[in-house]
Amino acid sequence: MRKNIVAGNWKMNNDLAQTQDLITDLENKKNTGNAEVMIAPAFTNLFSAFNALKDSPIEVVAQNMHFASNGAYTGEVSAAMLKSVGVKTVILGHSERRAYFGETDQVLAQKVDAALAADLRVVFCFGEELADRKSGNEESVVSSQIKNALFHLDASAFKNIVLAYEPVWAIGTGETASPEQAQDMHKFIRRTLNSTYGDNIAESMSILYGGSVKPANAKEIFSKPDVDGGLIGGAALNANDFYAIVNAF
Ligand code: 13P
Repeated sequence: MRKNIVAGNWKMNNDLAQTQDLITDLENKKNTGNAEVMIAPAFTNLFSAFNALKDSPIEVVAQNMHFASNGAYTGEVSAAMLKSVGVKTVILGHSERRAYFGETDQVLAQKVDAALAADLRVVFCFGEELADRKSGNEESVVSSQIKNALFHLDASAFKNIVLAYEPVWAIGTGETASPEQAQDMHKFIRRTLNSTYGDNIAESMSILYGGSVKPANAKEIFSKPDVDGGLIGGAALNANDFYAIVNAF
């Protein structure tokens, strides 16, 4: 069966001391729900976060990586480097990477391949922009993002992929997709997977929703049958809020 996951994407927030403080706060919280918990601190803080959480069920994951294994790519970090500090999962395809750093579906396909080849699990993000939704094109945008980056893979690869639907218009805006909008899109994503890879894969994939998830709306969003968790930005920076979301499961 698919897993419930709540992942905190810290984005470019928290220096080393702040990372350590937030981890201490998180460790004082109780996971009373039934979701796995991940946090994604900045690259510079992964090693310290991993060591601090070595004996904890909270998994430390990375926000990005490069597709090459090494070489002249100034400022970049490889899968092997992530693994060497204990990381087992990497977020790829976040809309901020696509919008501000020009990551295309083709680049993301290469990153997915490199991560899987290195035995990293991938949290693959995608989602339409406001203009796409206004023009009724959200499903075609989402289906091409998924197909272009993932549908060259063998079925067996999907056990190491988690999907994260994050409509761009809901990220950091305070405007959440309604639980029905999230459910409709997640169901569509499962249908898209089903048409190429069949029912087993479609039903076994965890599909997270991201975009202004807060303690006040998490329970309703997570109650939808095709929503298997959340990718949390702003609310993941506060331990009380994050665990209120975690425990909404
Ligand atoms: P917010 O929760 O701040 O809207 O961010 C969502 C997100 O981008 C998580 O990756």
